[in-house]
Amino acid sequence: MLPRHLLDLSDLGGGDGVRALLAHAACLEGARDAGGQERPLIGRTLALVFDKPSTRTRLAFEVAAVELGAHPMLITPTTSQTGRGEPLEDTARVFGRLVSAVACRTGSHAGLRTLARASSAPVLNALTDDAHPLQTLADLYTVLAERGTLEGLRYVWVGDASNVARSWIEAAGLLGLHLVLACPAGFGPPPAEVELAGARGGRVELTDDARAAARGADVLITDVWVSMGQEAEVAARRKALADYRIDRAMVGGASPEVVVLHCLPAHRGEEIAAEVIDGPRSFVWDAVEARLHVTKAALLWCLHLAPEAPPSLGRRRSPH
Ligand code: CP
Ligand code: NVA
Repeated sequence: MLPRHLLDLSDLGGGDGVRALLAHAACLEGARDAGGQERPLIGRTLALVFDKPSTRTRLAFEVAAVELGAHPMLITPTTSQTGRGEPLEDTARVFGRLVSAVACRTGSHAGLRTLARASSAPVLNALTDDAHPLQTLADLYTVLAERGTLEGLRYVWVGDASNVARSWIEAAGLLGLHLVLACPAGFGPPPAEVELAGARGGRVELTDDARAAARGADVLITDVWVSMGQEAEVAARRKALADYRIDRAMVGGASPEVVVLHCLPAHRGEEIAAEVIDGPRSFVWDAVEARLHVTKAALLWCLHLAPEAPPSLGRRRSPH
């Protein structure tokens, strides 16, 4: 059987595939809460290849693996041969021979694709410079839990069009969402990705006016001004992004039911005000927990162990 990789959201096979994964994740959450978590991955192994730091993603994978019965193993550049120039293809062949699945956090998206092409074990994207699909899945899961639907909402991204923003653009295309990205000049997304999202059925708009964009927003999302690997650009980024902060006034102009999201780690006082991230419309900690549920669903999907027809999506939590 060919390995099922999850490098981009589109690997899930369109909007229905994304919805099915979210529905399966909700089932897994329900089973966990009821103490009835099954362990379908007993005897399986998971390599966690982390070329960059991580708290949430690594923990979500480790906890997901352990709760499903699998054994996770961390591989870093300093503790493996990956940091000493062993060709990616050779590393991939090792994975294909020894482990059931691979989660990889690295810079180059093309490198991740190379790894996946050469691996007979499925590869999951744990973040690249271009995409962070598991974060966006967790964010979507959180919106669904709070608002009861993904459709008919105004999604507003504020700040740098980071890897997370680019996965949101992909999600907007696949799910037909209305997403407005408010980014300063020079920090917007690749035009081809916006075009593709439009061609797929999403409504993706760009502006440099974050305050106007946020008016009436149902979901407000941001990310750090300086992503991993961009440390040399700190000064330029702080200057360019100084007005792109989710603050109390911005939240005040949004829907009263607005869901504020940030992938974390956050820099209070930069891209988000402390009173917002620590305030009543912030769902960032729910999204952290959602990382676990969607990671489990993603692992099972990659291993051909997802149910054929998960139940439909719907509200599970009452709003604040
Ligand atoms: N949001 C996220 O991916 O966090 P980590 O970098 O801690 O994994
Ligand atoms: N855009 C951020 C996301 C961290 C989870 C980064 O790449 O550093």
